[in-house]
Amino acid sequence: MKRSITVTANGVKHQHEVEPRLLLVHYIREVLGLTGTHVGCDTSQCGACTVVLNGEAVKSCNVLAVQADGGKILTVEGLAKNGELHPLQEGFWEEHGLQCGFCTPGMIMTSYQLLERNATPSEDEIRRAIQGNFCRCTGYQHIVKAISYAARKGGGPVVAPAGPGGPGPEHAGEVKE
Ligand code: FES
Ligand code: FES
Repeated sequence: MKRSITVTANGVKHQHEVEPRLLLVHYIREVLGLTGTHVGCDTSQCGACTVVLNGEAVKSCNVLAVQADGGKILTVEGLAKNGELHPLQEGFWEEHGLQCGFCTPGMIMTSYQLLERNATPSEDEIRRAIQGNFCRCTGYQHIVKAISYAARKGGGPVVAPAGPGGPGPEHAGEVKE
């Protein structure tokens, strides 16, 4: 039997009927249409699916959509503000912190939590923070540099904007406030 859930994703409120077994990552990608969140392993190993749920970086393949009911989700699409990249996005761009880019959204959302909790992390702290995120292109050196760049630029939390990249393509289930 489906259950009704309400979530706020990148500042936009949504209400949907979902199967209790639906994973949060599939809800985000397939129901909300926010495909910046990736599925790498589906077994809680790689971190490609990391989003921030109620202020906590979580692997969304390891959370049920119904567990996010009433919650606030921030995905990579919610970081840019008024057309300007978030310092973390800028850092990955400037420091060549990606190759294929598959791990990047998860790396960024994990780093977002790090910088929220520790605005001036050491290299060691950065490496420890991203230990649950795998990069198959092995670009860790540049990833660490990218996160350091964001820290220097004050890459703290954002108030997730609505707008492009916020709601899914069909805006299905969007609740106007
Ligand atoms: Fe979630 Fe790999 S897809 S950890
Ligand atoms: Fe390719 Fe990390 S950039 S997996």
